Amino acid sequence: MTRRKLAAGNWKMNGTSADLVELEALAKAHPTPGCDILICPPATLISRAAAAASAQIAIGGQDCHQKDSGAHTGDVSAPMLLDAGAQYVILGHSERREDHRESDTDVRNKVVAALSAGLKAIVCVGESLAEREANNTLDIIGGQLAGSIPDVVTGDSLVVAYEPIWAIGTGKVPTLDQIGEVHDFIRIRLETRFGAGVGRSTRILYGGSVKPANASEIFAVSNVDGALVGGASLSATDFSPIITALE
Ligand code: G3P
Repeated sequence: MTRRKLAAGNWKMNGTSADLVELEALAKAHPTPGCDILICPPATLISRAAAAASAQIAIGGQDCHQKDSGAHTGDVSAPMLLDAGAQYVILGHSERREDHRESDTDVRNKVVAALSAGLKAIVCVGESLAEREANNTLDIIGGQLAGSIPDVVTGDSLVVAYEPIWAIGTGKVPTLDQIGEVHDFIRIRLETRFGAGVGRSTRILYGGSVKPANASEIFAVSNVDGALVGGASLSATDFSPIITALE
């Protein structure tokens, strides 16, 4: 089973219209990319990013509400993201789980909403430092996968991102063995629950302090199908070599 690699950038709460030039620079540097490229800017920029990005760069949201519309001040729904030009949405990022107290059930409901709207969902899982030090990593990841992913998915529309919380924005990265252990575990869990079709076609990304300097070695690890990149996705200068390492 060949899975097309995915280089995904999560701009988090960064970026104004002036930063759209980074998309143009990326498109110029990768006119016919050998992997999928995705940028998830803040919601305020999605329409303009989708208009500015060339066909080879997909745009995504960073969250969506579990309902399609209604009295939910400040929230954005999956159909709205699609309408704005998004093709993907990141769900269950640890910063959302922490800052907004999102539970696995909340994330699962959002994934259902995203898939029903026709978006691809990137479901984030990851352990805290305390959980890793207590040797609970695989239990935590297994629980998040079971709770956050709904029963009906397709390998084409589901992406899983393994982001150890302690590696996000810290410059600390797990060992390659630790990354491989978790990615292999996620693959087996997906195959066991959904069968070989979905299990083998779902892409599994690594996220947490991915930089141009460490991208190649991380991408060589088994079952790493790409990266979900935070800080290094904000400038084309940093993100472009990461894309190249994946191509
Ligand atoms: O979603 C991406 C992210 O959490 C990783 O952030 O800045 O460590 O690459 P960063």
